[in-house]
Amino acid sequence: MKSLIGILALALLPTLAAAAEKPDWAFPVTEKVQPPPRFDANRVRPAPPGSTLSITRAKADDMYDIPNWFPNMYPPMPAIVQYGNKERQVRACGSCHLPTGTGHDESAYMAGLPAPYFIRQMADWKSGDRKFSPTMVTMAKVITDAEISDAAGYFASLKPRPWIRVVEADAVPKSYIGQGNKRLVHPDGGSEPLGNRIIEVPEDEEVVVYRDPMAGFVAYVPMGSIAKGKELASTGNGKTLPCGICHGRTLQGLGDVPAIAGRHPNYIVRQLWNMQNGERVGTSAALMQQVVEKLSNDDMLAIAAYVASLTP
Ligand code: HEC
Ligand code: HEC
Repeated sequence: MKSLIGILALALLPTLAAAAEKPDWAFPVTEKVQPPPRFDANRVRPAPPGSTLSITRAKADDMYDIPNWFPNMYPPMPAIVQYGNKERQVRACGSCHLPTGTGHDESAYMAGLPAPYFIRQMADWKSGDRKFSPTMVTMAKVITDAEISDAAGYFASLKPRPWIRVVEADAVPKSYIGQGNKRLVHPDGGSEPLGNRIIEVPEDEEVVVYRDPMAGFVAYVPMGSIAKGKELASTGNGKTLPCGICHGRTLQGLGDVPAIAGRHPNYIVRQLWNMQNGERVGTSAALMQQVVEKLSNDDMLAIAAYVASLTP
C-alpha cells in the first residue's frame, strides 16, 4: 500500500508542481478598500532619538529625495541611491531598499549582494528573463550602466545585519495590504489563523512607514515549518538539492551566488515560485531549475521560514 501511494505521488508530482497556484500572500498587492492609516500623509514625525530629521509621511515617500534619518549608519549614498533620476523616472533605490539595503518584505534585502550578481539582475529585467516586479522591469530599461554600477557598488559595500525575526505561530495579528504593497497590522486589532502562509509585518509601524532603517520586521511562520525547511535545505530530502553546495555552508553567499540567509521570507518564496514557473529564467537562474522543479508551495514556505531565520 505504502509503495503504491509512493508511486502515485511520484507520478503526480510534476503535474502538481506545475499546476501549483500562486501563493498570493507572498505577492502582496495594495487592497482597494483601506482602513484609515495610523499615520496619515500630513502627520509630522518628530525626530527620533539620535536623528535631527522631522518630516511628514508624504515627504518620507518622496521617491526622488529619500529621508536620510541616520547618515552615520551607512556610507554616503551615490546620487542614484539617494535621489534616483527624475527625468528618466528612475526612482531612488534607497526608497524601497533603504540606505541600509535591508529593504521591506515587498521589495528585497540587498546589503552585501555581490556586484556581478546585482548587475546581472538588472540585465535580466531588461532582457525579460526576470519578469517580476513591474517597477524593476520599467526602471531597468532606462537606468544607465554607470548608475547600475554605482548602486551595485554601494549595496555590495554594506554589511548585512539581522532584520527579520522569524516566529512560529498558529494565530497572527489581523493585517491588510496598505499603500505601496505594504502589509501592516490592521488598526482594528484582533487576530486570525495563520494557515499555510507567512505573514510579515513591521516591528514598529511608524519606523517602517517613514522609511527609517532602525527597526525591521517580524515574520510569522506555521508551527514546525522551520525544522521542515531545515531538513529540505540541508539534505534535499530527495526533492531538491542542499542549498549550501552553491550558496555557501552558512547560506551567506559564495562567490557570485547570492546569500539567502536572513532575507525576507516572502521574497524567498517569490523567487522560488517565479523560478519554478518561468518568471525568472536567466542563464544563472537555470542553475536553480533542479532545485525548484519538484517543490510544492508548502515546501517553498518551509524553506523560506528556515533560511529567513538564519543570520544574514
Ligand atoms: C518602488 C520600489 C522600488 C525601488 C524605488 C527600487 N526597487 Fe529594486 N526591487 C523592488 C522590488 C519590489 C523588488 C523585488 C522583486 C521580486 O520580488 O522579485 C526589487 C528587487 C531588486 C533587486 C533584486 C535583489 C536580488 O536579491 O535579486 C535589485 C538588484 C534591485 N531591486 C535594484 C534596484 C536598484 C538599482 C534601484 C534604484 C535604481 C531599485 N532597485 C529601486 C522595488 C524597488
Ligand atoms: C547548483 C547551485 C545551486 C543550488 C544547489 C541552489 N542554488 Fe539557489 N541560486 C543559485 C544561483 C547561481 C543563483 C543566482 C541566480 C541568478 O543569478 O539569477 C541562485 C539564486 C537563488 C535565489 C534568489 C536570490 C535572490 O537574491 O534573488 C534563491 C531564493 C535561492 N537561490 C534559493 C535556493 C535554495 C533555498 C536552495 C536549496 C533548497 C538553493 N537555492 C540551492 C544556485 C544554486
